[in-house]
Amino acid sequence: MPERTLLIIKPDAVSRNAIGDILKRVEDKGFKIQQMRMTRFTREEATRFYAVHEGQPFFDGLIDFMSSGPVVPAALERDDAVSILREIIGVTDSAKAAEGTIRREFGTTVQRNAVHASDSPETAEDEIAFFFGDST
Ligand code: RTP
Ligand code: MG
Repeated sequence: MPERTLLIIKPDAVSRNAIGDILKRVEDKGFKIQQMRMTRFTREEATRFYAVHEGQPFFDGLIDFMSSGPVVPAALERDDAVSILREIIGVTDSAKAAEGTIRREFGTTVQRNAVHASDSPETAEDEIAFFFGDST
C-alpha cells in the first residue's frame, strides 16, 4: 500500500548545498515527491513542530538550530514510506549512522543531522498537514 512520509532537509544540509544530492538519493529509492517547498521555521513554528520533545535537555538547542536557516520540507510517497525513509537516513547521531546513509554522508553531529523523517504513518500525516495543509 502506498504510504506517505515527511522529509525535511535541515538548515545544515541546505547551507552545505546538499539539497539536490539528498533529493536524488530519495528519488533513486523509489519515492515520489508529492509536495515540496523551501521555508524557514520561526522559533514558534519549530517549537510547535517538535512539541513532543519539550522539556528534553536538547530542546532549546534543537529550536535554535531548526530556526537558524532555510529548510526544505517534502511530502514523499511509496510503499512502506515511513520505515524505508528512516532506514536510508540512518540513526539520529550522524557520527553513529551506518556508512552509506544520508545522515552519515551529509550530517555531522547528533543535532546537525541533515534531515528529519516522520516516525509513524500517523505522525507523517500530521507533519505533512503542518506544512501543506489537508489539500494533499
Ligand atoms: P527527527 O525527528 O529530526 O527525524 O530525528 P529523530 O527522530 O532521529 O530523533 P528525535 O529523537 O526525534 O530528535 C529530534 C531531533 O533533536 C535533535 N537531538 N539532539 N543533543 C541530543 O542529544 C539530541 N537528541 C536529538 C536532533 O536534531 C534530532 O534529529
Ligand atoms: Mg523524531
